[in-house]
Amino acid sequence: APSYRLRKTVVMVGMMGAGKTAVGRALAAKLRVPFLDSDHEIEVAANLSVPEIFDRDGEAFFRKRETEVIARLLDSERGILSTGGGAFLAKQNRELISQRGVSVWLNADLELLWNRVKHKNTRPLLRTSDPKATLAALYDTRTPLYQQADLSVPSDPSLSIDAMADRVIEAL
Ligand code: S3P
Repeated sequence: APSYRLRKTVVMVGMMGAGKTAVGRALAAKLRVPFLDSDHEIEVAANLSVPEIFDRDGEAFFRKRETEVIARLLDSERGILSTGGGAFLAKQNRELISQRGVSVWLNADLELLWNRVKHKNTRPLLRTSDPKATLAALYDTRTPLYQQADLSVPSDPSLSIDAMADRVIEAL
C-alpha cells in the first residue's frame, strides 16, 4: 500500500498521559509516514532520560532543547510528531507548530490523565508532595493554550489506541 503524502506534519499536543506518543505512533503506522517524538530526540541527543535532564540541567535547559528539536523535526521530513506536554505552552513553539504543522490536541479529562500517570515515575513535574494537585493545576493553566490547537480530538478511554488514531484521521 502506498504511503500518504502529508501536506504538513501532524503535531500531537496535550497533557502528559493523553496518549500523544501511543496514538501518534499508531497514526504514523496507519498512514505509513515517519513517526517523530520530540522527547525521544532530546533523550537521544543528551544520552539521558527526560527526568535525568531535568535533574541535571533543569527545566529551562530542557525547554530550550525542546524548542530546537521541534524546529528541526518540523524542517525535516513530514510525518506525525508527538511532543511533550509542555511543548505547546511557549508562544514561540505554538507559532512554529502552527506555521509548519497541523496541531492536534488529544483532549483527555483530568481523571483519565491521573489514572494513566499516577503509577509512573517518568514525569519530573509530578515529583511533588501532592502530584494529583500538581497535575490538576497544570491541567487548568494549560487547557486554554491547548484549545488554540488546530484540531481537538477527545480522548475516549473506551477506545483502543488504534481506534483513537482513526478518530484523529477523521478529524484531519
Ligand atoms: C512534560 C511532559 C513530558 C516531558 C516532560 C515535561 C510537561 O512529556 O516532555 O516531562 O511539561 O508536561 P509527556 O507529555 O510525553 O509525558
